[in-house]
Amino acid sequence: MTVLCRLDEIPDPGGKGFVFGEAEKREEIFVMRKGDKVYGYRNRCPHALVPLDWTSDQFLDPSRTMIMCAMHGALFAIEDGRCLAGPTRGRGLSAIAVRLVEDGAAGPVLVWDKSAD
Ligand code: FES
Repeated sequence: MTVLCRLDEIPDPGGKGFVFGEAEKREEIFVMRKGDKVYGYRNRCPHALVPLDWTSDQFLDPSRTMIMCAMHGALFAIEDGRCLAGPTRGRGLSAIAVRLVEDGAAGPVLVWDKSAD
């Protein structure tokens, strides 16, 4: 289990990206927050297999209700990563197992349980 950040470090609504490892072991993920709920995904657009955010941590479309790929504008649902529009031919985002745990004075902390992906 990997601790990612405190819940209040993610904008509401908004997202935050994380990178682990280097070279062939590099992993990019991001987490979206909507109120007290969080949703995690691999930061890889199913269209061209690139990260969705050109500007760090900018994952929302202008309406701030959907995830948007910065490359060609594909739209995805925040809650389950399904494709809503764009050139991905219906392919959605790959979800990862994130959840909130209470950490005393720190409040809710986001963790990634990679073994459950
Ligand atoms: S790379 Fe994401 S829509 Fe093309």
